[in-house]
Amino acid sequence: MAAPRCIENFEQMKKERSKADGYHTNSSLEQEKVEASVGEVYQTFISGSNKIPKLEREKHLGYLNKGLKHLSESYECLDASKPWLCYWILHSLELLGEKISEEYASQVAQFIGKCQHPGGGFGGGPGQYAHLATTYAAVLALSTIGTKEAYSVVNREKLAGFLMRMRSADGGFIMHEGGEIDVRGAYCAAVAARLTNVATSEMFEGTPEWIASCQTYEGGFAGVPGMEAHGGYTFCAVAALVLMGHDRLCDVEALVRWLSNRQMSFEGGFQGRTNKHVDGCYSLWQGGVFPLVHKILNGHGDNAVSTRCWMFDQNALQEYILICCQNVHGGLVDKPGKPRDFYHTCYCLSGLSVAQHFAGGNLATTSVLGDCSNELMPVHPVYNIGVDCAFQASKYFSTLSVPKL
Ligand code: FPP
Ligand code: ZN
Repeated sequence: MAAPRCIENFEQMKKERSKADGYHTNSSLEQEKVEASVGEVYQTFISGSNKIPKLEREKHLGYLNKGLKHLSESYECLDASKPWLCYWILHSLELLGEKISEEYASQVAQFIGKCQHPGGGFGGGPGQYAHLATTYAAVLALSTIGTKEAYSVVNREKLAGFLMRMRSADGGFIMHEGGEIDVRGAYCAAVAARLTNVATSEMFEGTPEWIASCQTYEGGFAGVPGMEAHGGYTFCAVAALVLMGHDRLCDVEALVRWLSNRQMSFEGGFQGRTNKHVDGCYSLWQGGVFPLVHKILNGHGDNAVSTRCWMFDQNALQEYILICCQNVHGGLVDKPGKPRDFYHTCYCLSGLSVAQHFAGGNLATTSVLGDCSNELMPVHPVYNIGVDCAFQASKYFSTLSVPKL
């Protein structure tokens, strides 16, 4: 069992705290505050009697199962994100190895069906306009449920029509009719199309080149060409390029340099962009890019790529998630002091799974921080659903013919 680095080497860790250079900016002062609060949590953990980080599995299951059945009024602001809530909760349960009952599987599948727009794609709730992000979430949630009833909810002909209408002439995708173009659109469209087997070459003509044009001078990807590199967009861009088999369009060396500098040396988790703060959700948006990078480099025949671990400190990330991001009542958070929510629960657990499972060599290996009962199910690196859910959904949809447009 690997020991947490905050137990073995807290003094060294403290030396990693941002060094004062005499110049204070709002960013440096805020960063110092985050480090102080994370440091306090690590210090409390070290001083406690149980020095083995523990995944509070039962508490998270309680939080998730309750959320699947009922959401309080505080969720009103997510009224246009209902398929997202289904995906975040179902995927988190899947990672924890929990199977939902047949009754709930059927109820959730039927509810997502009500979010499907008559013109194709899924909206944020019944009667809402279709949106690429909620379409992506709906397809992933249905694939996670994994029943024939759930798969059959998707109107594939209409979905293909919706995706074609979201395409712009240069290969980018708008998020919804009259909406903004950004790299999330290309990724959400590619996932929805590929998983349900409605993709055609016409649908994604020029898309890989459009995505590649979003890579910035820093090495990460921005939402649109010319903007700032960010973890969320970088995951979308790299996963979409891998899915479309066009990863050679990306400058991998620059990507690895930018990406590996996003893991915070003291906190252990990832920041989303240069000079910003650690946040548990980037455990997947940034951490999840490493398996994709490994796949790209392996495909290039790069012999220097490790056959034992991803190119980030997997233990440090597990430590940040397990020690700093678990709410005492269940659910996970951005950073200490922040409230729990289903989004952070999903992406902290997804990132934790990436950090536990290495699959970039000939043999898949696990390196679980703490007791082996902390181990989660492995995730599919492009879709971020369970590996088996992705396999079963792809198998089911591959038996159906690609709709003619
Ligand atoms: C900045 O937030 C966040 C963004 C600029 C976009 C984030 C994009 C994603 C998380 C990807 C979404 C993916 C799909 C599939 C729809 P901020 O300024 O609050 O956070 P920061 O300070 O950490 O940058
Ligand atoms: Zn976050």
